[in-house]
Amino acid sequence: MGKLDGKVAVITGAARGIGEADALLFAKEGAAVLVSDIDEAPLKEVVKKIKAAGGKAEAYAGDVTKLEDCQKVMDMAAQKFGKIDILVNNAGLTRDALIHKMTDAQWDLCVDISLKGTFNCIRAASQYMMKEGHNGRIINVASVAGLMGNVGQINYAAAKAGLIGLTKTVAREWGRFGITCNVVAYGFVDTRLTREKEAQQEEVGGELVGIPKKVRDMVLLQVKPMTPEDAAKPVLFLASDDAAFITGQTLNVSSGMYM
Ligand SMILES: NC(=O)c1ccc[n+]([C@@H]2O[C@H](COP(=O)([O-])OP(=O)(O)OC[C@H]3O[C@@H](n4cnc5c(N)ncnc54)[C@H](O)[C@@H]3O)[C@@H](O)[C@H]2O)c1
Repeated sequence: MGKLDGKVAVITGAARGIGEADALLFAKEGAAVLVSDIDEAPLKEVVKKIKAAGGKAEAYAGDVTKLEDCQKVMDMAAQKFGKIDILVNNAGLTRDALIHKMTDAQWDLCVDISLKGTFNCIRAASQYMMKEGHNGRIINVASVAGLMGNVGQINYAAAKAGLIGLTKTVAREWGRFGITCNVVAYGFVDTRLTREKEAQQEEVGGELVGIPKKVRDMVLLQVKPMTPEDAAKPVLFLASDDAAFITGQTLNVSSGMYM
């Protein structure tokens, strides 16, 4: 028996990295998953992987900064699978610069994806989740940068810190439906966002993502990096019955990067 048998989950930013690992794990645990991402080609590959393993999945390519895309994602989940039990707001992007060099475009993109994108998805899912006895789960994805700040990430730290207040508000407003809302603050997970910037070839939205080698090496002197599969396990916990009475919490999953 899977931990999510009979459940329907929507996961954003699921074409790669942590979101992909969430989708594969949730499907293995019995959930039907609607995966979404701005990047359509790798997203479709995730659906293929889930189906090949005997799971249920559908994809909708969309941009979380656009409310109409988020609405289509939620409508498609409800249409294909009949309901939405779990929403994982995982889409995110870094756009790093020191405070005095950060542009409006860098600030706006980062905040729009992490913070407004999460708000957009929750708003869009409201018609399917705000029901007596719904017993749903919302898991938002933040970072230790939102808890302790980070040099070069004023936009990202502010957006991720904002998710903590957003999460507590959803927990309070929707608690009466039996819905829990929590936020996971990751430390260092080995994905496209944390690879060596200097070694990356591909630009994402017109800029290289990743971390300067010097900074990466310094972090790795102190913490054990997680794989996306490691990072997915606490999300599964928060989505499962085991976490039915945990809400409004920030779960620090950082191998001690923040304590
Ligand atoms: N990797 C880490 O160490 C780390 C640490 C703390 C927090 N996080 C957070 O974890 C989440 C997942 O990141 P990851 O490390 O797996 O990175 P990733 O780059 O591997 O995956 C992020 C996904 O989000 C998608 N995305 C970006 N903008 C989008 C948009 N506008 N609409 C829809 N999808 C969009 C990307 O296409 C990508 O597939 C992010 O919210 C990130 O901020 C990661």
